[in-house]
Amino acid sequence: MMKIIVVKDSEQGGKEACKIFKEVLADNGTVFGLATGSTPLTTYRNLVKDDIDFSNAISVNLDEYVGIKPDNPQSYQYFMNEYLFKYKPFKHSYLPQGDAPDSKKEVERYDKVIAENPIDLQLLGIGRNGHIGFNEPGSDFNLKTHKVALSPSTIKANARFFKNEEDVPRYAYSMGIGSIMKSKKIILEAFGAQKAHAVAAMIEGPVSADCPASVLQKHNDVIVIVDEEAAAEL
Ligand code: GLP
Repeated sequence: MMKIIVVKDSEQGGKEACKIFKEVLADNGTVFGLATGSTPLTTYRNLVKDDIDFSNAISVNLDEYVGIKPDNPQSYQYFMNEYLFKYKPFKHSYLPQGDAPDSKKEVERYDKVIAENPIDLQLLGIGRNGHIGFNEPGSDFNLKTHKVALSPSTIKANARFFKNEEDVPRYAYSMGIGSIMKSKKIILEAFGAQKAHAVAAMIEGPVSADCPASVLQKHNDVIVIVDEEAAAEL
């Protein structure tokens, strides 16, 4: 079941998401699946301001670029430290390791992490082409962690965080849709007009690999938090 919450703006959206984090924690949830990108920033800001305490909780991130070190400012590890972990430390925080020497082993390691830490609440953003994590259109819905080649449109969209488009990594490790769907509860956030098409396809379109996020129609506890612009095509 998908519950849709339309908010005025991303600030309001972040407040709603923060409330849900608190409810899950109060309800003895201990494992939080976290996301990067500009979308979850207001959520992290609200969590940082709040008195929520994650020191007995575990975080498991969705994805990481391949080939960059955890201390590289472009890495998702760096992003998480900067916006959340340095203010709100978890008992343990897991991310795929971008510079792991052996990608096959890294994928196996991460699947083990997820299997040992079943996710109570997963936070998601959505790509303009409907991707979740880095599960691009065409991805198999049963996949666990895997190494993905980023689509040209994702490289372009993410280039805004890099000096040049050529600097955007071409590959990433991503939790698969199979793993995401095992999360007990999911929040998907989308803000801004550039997400309106993907949001409509996710909620009203057919469940299809053309829009990976549409698979969420089959999950029994999804909360979609959208601002008015992202809800415009619903
Ligand atoms: C990236 C991330 C996704 C994220 C998406 C949208 O490619 N891998 O997890 O949801 O882009 O990013 P943004 O929130 O910056 O629009």
